[in-house]
Amino acid sequence: MSNIERVRSGIPGLDEMLNGGIPKGRVILVVGGPGTGKTIFCTQFLINGIKQYGDPGLFISLDETDYHIKRELASFNWDIAQLERDKMWALVDLSPFGHMAKEMKRSKIALGKREFALEKAIDDIKKGVKSVGSKRIVIDTMNSLTYQFPDSLQRRAVILALMEVFASTGATTLMTAELRTSGLEREVQLEEYLAHGVVIMQTLQVGKAATRVLQIEKMRETPIDTQMRPYRINEKGIEVYPKESVF
Ligand SMILES: Nc1ncnc2c1ncn2[C@@H]1O[C@H](COP(=O)(O)OP(=O)(O)O)[C@@H](O)[C@H]1O
Ligand SMILES: [Mg+2]
Repeated sequence: MSNIERVRSGIPGLDEMLNGGIPKGRVILVVGGPGTGKTIFCTQFLINGIKQYGDPGLFISLDETDYHIKRELASFNWDIAQLERDKMWALVDLSPFGHMAKEMKRSKIALGKREFALEKAIDDIKKGVKSVGSKRIVIDTMNSLTYQFPDSLQRRAVILALMEVFASTGATTLMTAELRTSGLEREVQLEEYLAHGVVIMQTLQVGKAATRVLQIEKMRETPIDTQMRPYRINEKGIEVYPKESVF
């Protein structure tokens, strides 16, 4: 069981909870409320991959433009622009704003027609993967697809199509989903069923204090620690405390 190939996240404390790391080539969902650190978590996975393991990374953004991602992550010492120049980091901007900017450059302003073109998106993703030979992929966040495809059967087909693309590259992928509800009760999302593993990030009220807690809900192929464990965000990113209990 422990002979499977694993990809180490390099996020302090997390690989311990995963019995060594994420099973290679799988698609893992990182789910949590706004501000829980999903984007930081995923970026750290890519950055550690590049800096510690020489794995080129691909960041697929469905929400934010390159400019905004870099700005939000500027407080971390990651120097994404340099990694991009070194051909170790690539960004595929599938955000509505990025799309609009491209259209405007071609002076084809098609306001009002904003649907997600799946085939074009898959094509862009494949090009992105090829451009750096990415071994790790992040897609942040899947919620945009929820708005584009309110019909769950259609959305299921889209998610599966994307997952198939990711699997075909052999890369290990993190996708994020934002939860609107908080606390212990929440709706299980489509992505949660389809993903090979699920990591939940949330903020809980424990006594008087709000505590950030991370839980691995499922992970195929490997034994895991399913307990809620506290985590913190600091200037280095996310750190999980696998030996501490929450309650
Ligand atoms: N340098 C930092 N030190 C500590 N916390 C930070 C730092 N930068 C951002 N944060 C925290 O990280 C959170 C945002 O993380 P982010 O990954 O963007 O969340 P999400 O993608 O889940 O919405 C915010 O709660 C913010 O307070
Ligand atoms: Mg985010």
